[in-house]
Amino acid sequence: MTSTPSLRAVSDLHVGHRGNADVLDEIHPGHPGDWLIVAGDVAEKTDHVVNALGRLAERFERVIWVPGNHELWIGRDDEGITSPTKYDRLVEACRAIGVDTPEDPYPLWTGPGGPAWIVPMFLLYDYSWTLVRGQSRPDALAGARERRVVASDEFLIDPAPYSDAAAWCRDRLVATTSRLGRIDPPHPTVLINHWPLLRDPTRVLRHPDFALWCGTDQTADWHRRYRAAACVYGHLHIPRSSSYDEVRFEEVSLGYPREWGSRGRPEPLARQILPAPAEPQARWIRDGQGLPRLARPGEPGPFLEEEQ
Ligand SMILES: [Fe+2]
Ligand SMILES: [Fe+2]
Repeated sequence: MTSTPSLRAVSDLHVGHRGNADVLDEIHPGHPGDWLIVAGDVAEKTDHVVNALGRLAERFERVIWVPGNHELWIGRDDEGITSPTKYDRLVEACRAIGVDTPEDPYPLWTGPGGPAWIVPMFLLYDYSWTLVRGQSRPDALAGARERRVVASDEFLIDPAPYSDAAAWCRDRLVATTSRLGRIDPPHPTVLINHWPLLRDPTRVLRHPDFALWCGTDQTADWHRRYRAAACVYGHLHIPRSSSYDEVRFEEVSLGYPREWGSRGRPEPLARQILPAPAEPQARWIRDGQGLPRLARPGEPGPFLEEEQ
């Protein structure tokens, strides 16, 4: 146990994957006053999501959730509903177990590193991160399809009544900016969104076309505009601690077993967000064969932030 509370964050637990099924057993508070951010992709099935969040809510003083794309997927259990309805139902289920969602008042963290508004957001993507700058969306999607890069979201998210994910994203941006503009008093914020607010972290994706499903140009200055002390995201399955305009960005994903099996897992899994840690927590180094992997705490080695 630690002597003071902290705000922690994790994402992309994908608990429906066999190799990740027991991962919740490893996420415990270090202090009874710890809060936990869960930044999306808990699972696809509503039962799995609510169960996992419920277990975490029993352990942490407060749990703050935002949806990932996997929560929006329509599966056999969701027959007859669309993704916006599934999201609304998840919000209701979270409220019933005391978990904060993007639809609730922003909690104020007053522990070490505070005061800071904790801002869970659900913004989605609008296909603006095209491989060729300024390319039209149909051309970008056609190119991605030719290169056989099409996110499963295209088949598994049903955005109705919105015409597509971009229209849903537009609606989310309008609603979120209007709330962010009314934050009072103007304390610093912790901005949480499953998809990164900046495009830069997607530049290391193995399939660059995948950036189409990763975010929107519209949030490029939000970390400055809304006084972010830190920005928390996931989705890329590339855990890292980085800094843009002197604002800390934390990609807090676990990812699939086949991914963390080779590159390692972040330690600790639930990363400290506030108070700000003295050192970047997710560091990449090269192993004996020259392959990049996550460093263990305190492990020496060149910091490959620039490369990764
Ligand atoms: Fe994920
Ligand atoms: Fe995701």
